[in-house]
Amino acid sequence: MRIGVLTAGGDCPGLNAVIRSVVHRAVTQYDDEVIGFEDGYAGLLDGRYRTLDLDDVSGILARGGTILGSSRLQRDRLREACENAQDMAREFGIDVLIPIGGEGTLTAARMLSDARLPVVGVPKTIDNDISSTDRTFGFDTAVGVATEAMDRLKTTAESHQRVMVVEVMGRHAGWIALESGMAAGAHGICLPERPFDPAHLVKMVEARFARGKKFAVICVAEGAHPAEGSMDYGHGAIDQFGHERFQGIGTALAYELERRLGKEAKPVILGHIQRGGTPTAYDRVLATRFGWHAVEAAHQGQFGRMTALRGTDVVMVPLAEAVTELKTVPKDRMDEAESVF
Ligand code: F6P
Repeated sequence: MRIGVLTAGGDCPGLNAVIRSVVHRAVTQYDDEVIGFEDGYAGLLDGRYRTLDLDDVSGILARGGTILGSSRLQRDRLREACENAQDMAREFGIDVLIPIGGEGTLTAARMLSDARLPVVGVPKTIDNDISSTDRTFGFDTAVGVATEAMDRLKTTAESHQRVMVVEVMGRHAGWIALESGMAAGAHGICLPERPFDPAHLVKMVEARFARGKKFAVICVAEGAHPAEGSMDYGHGAIDQFGHERFQGIGTALAYELERRLGKEAKPVILGHIQRGGTPTAYDRVLATRFGWHAVEAAHQGQFGRMTALRGTDVVMVPLAEAVTELKTVPKDRMDEAESVF
């Protein structure tokens, strides 16, 4: 079998672990040939690829990023890919394509599958917002990075009696904010799923200071919004990939709290630090298992499906099911987090 693999969309720690695992399983178990397309679907469309052998994936398990490169694909180029799906498969001689990516990449994978390109998807994203899988790899690493950052910020915040507003990634799903905020013991957590009222945060900070605790850390997801009428904050424009451009809620909220509290409040935007660096042990294992199962699925002809974690098992689920809606933080998880502030 000849397998094509690509990584598309925003990168995340663990991508290289999947590529390595695909190559190992395919080459050693099945004597397959694996080719890697460069820079996501762009490489597929432009015919930029290279053969991946065992030596090519040696030493990449713990490396962040992706040895293949990644990119986001504009919609008209995706249409082009779908129109030429079977020609491309013939041209490159691939029997199956394994795209590794988030919601956008898996939606494209589904469209290619509908256009009769044999596809087995592998979900990834630090956001952990893909339906049908309990976890995506990259998330555990991002949560660890954000947690460590807040642990560090607490000590300096306390020295200077400051409020730190830490903005983490998460456009529509607040999983990183929820779990890193809980792990770091943040005193407030603001998620995209539940508009927040700055007045509540002001009250919480004042109550802490009144109790003699002279600092606070608030963890805010980049996609969090204040409740209507509670604070001036504009909605962002839409970028060329159809994503909302955020206006910097961390900075806006820090200024708002400083104005209302009359105390120093500093914004800290963690940004792409959450996506960089070496994956945690958990992410390396999950990514490796996903790669292994993707190759097995390809050999069983389970096309139009993707790997997913259910409990501790890796199963195959239809791509259609996985991309219909984002997995956002449910109410009970938000309630749990609120009760521990
Ligand atoms: O989807 C992953 C993600 O890291 C989001 O959390 C974030 O909003 C976005 O990608 C950032 O994208 P880019 O790298 O294109 O700025």
